[in-house]
Amino acid sequence: MKTLFSGIQPSGIPTIGNYIGAITQFVEMQEEYESYFCIVDQHAITVPQDRLELRKNTKLLAAIYLAAGLDPNKAVLFIQSEVPTHTQATWIFQTLSYMGELERMTQFKDKARKQSQKEGIPVGLFTYPTLMVSDILLYNADVVPVGDDQAQHLELTRTLAERFNFRYKEIFTIPETRLPKFGGRIMSLQDPTSKMSKSDANQKAFISLMDDPNAAAKKIRSAVTDSDMVVKYDKENKPGISNLLVIYSSFTDYTIEEIEAKYEGKTYGDFKKDLGEIVKVFLTDFQEKVNHYLISEELDEILDEGRDRAFKKTIKTLTKMENAVGLGRKRK
Ligand code: AMP
Ligand code: TRP
Repeated sequence: MKTLFSGIQPSGIPTIGNYIGAITQFVEMQEEYESYFCIVDQHAITVPQDRLELRKNTKLLAAIYLAAGLDPNKAVLFIQSEVPTHTQATWIFQTLSYMGELERMTQFKDKARKQSQKEGIPVGLFTYPTLMVSDILLYNADVVPVGDDQAQHLELTRTLAERFNFRYKEIFTIPETRLPKFGGRIMSLQDPTSKMSKSDANQKAFISLMDDPNAAAKKIRSAVTDSDMVVKYDKENKPGISNLLVIYSSFTDYTIEEIEAKYEGKTYGDFKKDLGEIVKVFLTDFQEKVNHYLISEELDEILDEGRDRAFKKTIKTLTKMENAVGLGRKRK
């Protein structure tokens, strides 16, 4: 069985965009791969976080994955900071990467610009990709599902895997980037030409998975659409309606064509009202599951077991790395 690894930052509460574009697809993949899902709290602190919020969001994210169908008997779910091998291997990768390489990362450039207007640019923000490289390579992952914004970090991961293999010893598998097939870009409800984002200043632009279900239905009803009348998928000319069609299709068993046929001769108002109701029912049910996990003892047990399994797997790789590099002592 091939191995899959993915990391998710516990910064803020995921949106229905994250759910459709990432979470559900990751969860589906657990059937096909030996899967590791890591809540990357150490990546999250590369920009300032409130300690209580961070802890809350870390557990919430775990509960969201379980509510979305992640099966702890199939996949390993764990928290990055609880498995020390990740940062230990990072050091070695930092000695193998070049300043120029990391300076070229567009995510670094974007985030550095924002941070430089505040206190300054944290070094951890700069070395962030080397921690991601460790995350992936310690598991010898074959496949890494991520959003397109992470493709450059995956490119670096392959470069460093090859560099290590060449310089020291053939230890690492060269991982493949897997971009989402469907719903990879759920758009803002207020500006359907930009991506739905949990950090949007306009609360009406996104629906968080923990939004009040009635408020979420209202956001759908007031979503920006065009002045035409036909419910039809046309991404170029009707980006608002097209986005709502993708959301509708994701939360039901209907294809886009079936939904178009269903709303022939009906108004945008009818369509949005129904979709609002669908999202409301989904969120009500989903949040019930999330809250069940949050108060259960099961959640801690799953994360403890995940931590142990992740450590067991990665200490083997780390030891091989240290031996290949010549760190520590050779045991008799
Ligand atoms: P982020 O929230 O940007 O850290 O992204 C976490 C995951 O969700 C990544 O795999 C993203 O590609 C995916 N994602 C983020 N925003 C959206 C969106 N609007 N539509 C679909 N997928 C998204
Ligand atoms: N950097 C990724 C993001 O912001 C999260 C991440 C950390 C990750 N480590 C990973 C994703 C390893 C895939 C594999 O979305």
